[in-house]
Amino acid sequence: MRVVLIGSGAREHALARALLADPAVGAVIAAPGNPGMVADGVDVRSNATGKLADPTGVAVLASGARAHLVVIGPEGPLVAGAGDAVRAAGIPCFGPSAGAARIEGSKAFAKEVMTAAGVLTAASRSCRTIDEVRAALGRFGPPYVVKDDGLAGGKGVVVTDAFGQALAHASACLDRTYGSVVIEEFLDGPEVSVFCLSDGRTVVPLAPAQDFKRLGEGGAGPNTGGMGAYTPLPWLPGDLVDHVVEAVARPTIAELARRGTPYQGVLYCGLALTARGPRVIEFNARFGDPEAQVVLARLRTPLGALLLATATGRLAEHPPLEFDDGAAVVVVVAADGYPSGPVSGDVITGIEAAEAVEGVSVLHAGTARDGAGSLVSHGGRVLSVLATGSDVAQARRRAYEGVDRIRLRGAQVRRDVAAGQ
Ligand code: AMP
Ligand code: GLY
Repeated sequence: MRVVLIGSGAREHALARALLADPAVGAVIAAPGNPGMVADGVDVRSNATGKLADPTGVAVLASGARAHLVVIGPEGPLVAGAGDAVRAAGIPCFGPSAGAARIEGSKAFAKEVMTAAGVLTAASRSCRTIDEVRAALGRFGPPYVVKDDGLAGGKGVVVTDAFGQALAHASACLDRTYGSVVIEEFLDGPEVSVFCLSDGRTVVPLAPAQDFKRLGEGGAGPNTGGMGAYTPLPWLPGDLVDHVVEAVARPTIAELARRGTPYQGVLYCGLALTARGPRVIEFNARFGDPEAQVVLARLRTPLGALLLATATGRLAEHPPLEFDDGAAVVVVVAADGYPSGPVSGDVITGIEAAEAVEGVSVLHAGTARDGAGSLVSHGGRVLSVLATGSDVAQARRRAYEGVDRIRLRGAQVRRDVAAGQ
């Protein structure tokens, strides 16, 4: 099978490695891909970036590459309709249609679907004027949760005790074209990411993971795309995943099918475990990054066949998934200035030394080759240091041993990923 993979982050690098490890996968063609994939034997089409901006371009690339399956990593192309274009070209696609991807593309739409499906989430108000915002902030009280209605790369949410800051963020969201903003109740409790594969009908969950979203230790600083993750979660109630499938994923998938937009791909259920029970914080229409890196590190089931079954409505016939009993921890190495203004062009060394640590592999995200062929930073999250181990503590020790061997000027690393597990 020839698989075309869209995206360039560490999530896509992890997907590429898992796909190549499946004997049924003969070739992985990545666009735009990254330098780490080149070293792994992926056919990287780095000059395809222009084509990816347009859904038809993705379909043309997939047809040209004679793909049997297209896997779309990031939300941007999904929300733009790349899944629809690929399917219209007669190629199975892992990734929902634009209609179904609205579950991520619009927070207001996600809330509407949850209400219709009876899925529990934070109470919220969708606001179009600053007066509505003021009233909603007053109604919910602090901590204030203010969300840009549209896609914002994981950075559109502000959670703050400061009324002024909440109002300023809401006002910035409203200033955007078609601006609307969602104000919601604060959900108190640990967060869990549960990825549920769906072929439109059948739902199959993967192992749960936890993400470290804030830049700073102990949850300080701004939200980021995610600074680290681990799985399994030893503290998680044993029936949580089943509960998420029954009370969250299945009703949501059924509601989307009822609306004529069946969901094919992975539904990312981001939950807060509150004192009143699990509540949905957000849905995403794709794998979480970095959580997918640790989840895929434990998945023993061949990935190509699994994603193809998801894309072709045959998930019910697929054998049960198998996960390694051990643990996986990933720590992100981010660039100086991330997330507000990441600095590019700094030389990266030490990857081989990091990979010499038992159980450690390094995934690329924001990297590039400079004119002299040296590896340099080229984005916010630069690398992921991923480690497996017999338990979370061992995987964590290995991951940080790897991180400490990486050299990148001004690198930002959270030191508390998976601490105390
Ligand atoms: P989102 O983009 O919706 O995932 O939000 C990013 C992060 O903001 C989440 O992972 C949470 O840490 C935080 N967050 C979002 N909504 C809430 C909420 N209602 N209560 C508490 N924290 C939230
Ligand atoms: N790690 C959070 C996300 O992928 O949205």
